Amino acid sequence: VIFKDSSLASIVVAHEIARLIRQKHDSNDNCILGLATGSSPIRVYEELVRMHKEDGLSFENVITFNLDEYYPMTKENIQSYHYFMHEHLFNHIDIPAKNVHIPDGMVPMHDLNQYCSQYDALIDKHGGLDFQLLGIGRTGHIGFNEPGSHYNSKTRSITLDHITRVDAAPAFLGIDNVPRKAITMGIGTIKKAKRIVLLAWGTNKAEIIKETVEGEISSEVPATYLQEHPNTTFVLDRAASSEL
Ligand code: GLP
Repeated sequence: VIFKDSSLASIVVAHEIARLIRQKHDSNDNCILGLATGSSPIRVYEELVRMHKEDGLSFENVITFNLDEYYPMTKENIQSYHYFMHEHLFNHIDIPAKNVHIPDGMVPMHDLNQYCSQYDALIDKHGGLDFQLLGIGRTGHIGFNEPGSHYNSKTRSITLDHITRVDAAPAFLGIDNVPRKAITMGIGTIKKAKRIVLLAWGTNKAEIIKETVEGEISSEVPATYLQEHPNTTFVLDRAASSEL
C-alpha cells in the first residue's frame, strides 16, 4: 500500500493495531505484539500514545516482544533498543512492566543460546504473535536478520553487516562505537506471526524495497521471505515505492 506521506501511513497502521488491541480486550484475550525500533515506527508509536491519552486506549491486555537488541548493550545506554522503546512508547502507556519483552543485551555469552530459545518458547507459550511490526535495513534485513539468514532461523545472536553498522554510525557517534553483534528474532520466528506490517519511508529504502517485493526469494535479501507470508502488507510512502 502506497501513501502520500509516512505520517498518514503511520496513523493508519496505529489504528489497525488499536483495533486489534480493543478486539482482543473485548473477548478477554491478550494481544501479542511484535515491535520494531528504528526511525520508521516512531510516528506509529506517537499515535498509539495519543490514542492512550486522548481516546482511552488501554494496553493492560497487551504483551510485547521486541525484535532485537545490540549485543553487548546495557539497558541504560541511550543507544539501546530498551531505552528507545521506553522513550517512545512504554513510558507513556499503561502496559504492565511484566508484559514487556526486549532481548537482553547483557546476557552472558555462554547463556545466549538458551536465552534465545527461551525467548521463542515464551512467544509460543502466549500463542504466537498476533501482529508483527517491521522496518527494513538497506541490506534487506528484518529485525537484524542479515543476508545469509535461513528462512527457518530462530532467535539467536548475529554478526552485523558492515552496511548496517555504517547506517547506525551517526547514532553511535562513529562506526567504531557500533556493536558488532546483536540478538535478533529469527526469520522463522517472525514468519509465524499471524499478521505482518513492514514500514519503509524515503528514497533511501527504494532500492531494497524493489528487491524485496519484486526480487527472487533468497537469503541474500532476507526480507524477500515475506513474499511467502499469507498476511503481510508493505506500507510505503511515495519515495520508498519510487523504484517499483
Ligand atoms: C535497525 C533495526 C531494524 C530496522 C532498521 C531500519 O537495523 N534493527 O529493525 O528496521 O534499523 O531502521 P530505520 O527505520 O531507522 O530506517
